[in-house]
Amino acid sequence: MKVVVIQGPNLNMLGVREQHIYGPMKLEQIHEQMKKFAQENGIEIEFFQSNLEGEIVDRIQECLGDAQGIIINPAAYSHTSIAIRDALAAVGIPAIEVHLSNIHAREEFRRKSLTAEVCAGVIAGMGPFGYHLAMVGITQIMREIEAAQKMQQQQTKQH
Ligand code: DQA
Repeated sequence: MKVVVIQGPNLNMLGVREQHIYGPMKLEQIHEQMKKFAQENGIEIEFFQSNLEGEIVDRIQECLGDAQGIIINPAAYSHTSIAIRDALAAVGIPAIEVHLSNIHAREEFRRKSLTAEVCAGVIAGMGPFGYHLAMVGITQIMREIEAAQKMQQQQTKQH
């Protein structure tokens, strides 16, 4: 089972940017923790960060036939990008959207996420711990799907 973690614009600046909102932790440190969880749970994991919308669309498309789960923080593109939303819908791979901050308690323009509407779940306002919660969530979803597929295979064999 493989999870791809996709990080949108300006998340490469975590630990530097607006620390009163996003905290002191760097993206690499968050990824280290996620890697540890993945190793402990026998999950393959890959990380990708880009400030460019089209690159994020490309990376989502590349998940098709390769990954069984996506964790994505589309950052500012959450609020604007029909292209990223369409890419998530197109691949149909279960995705969990993460926001470090509680986007519902911030400016009006952040309260709507176009991309969240095509995700299996959303975690917001939990800081870096939100990525851990997303790992737990996507692992559960992937295991449930795998179990359902195995059951279906057994049933078709029996008939
Ligand atoms: C963010 C929230 C977005 O509104 C913002 O543009 C970001 C980060 C978050 O993780 O809280 O860049 O996605």
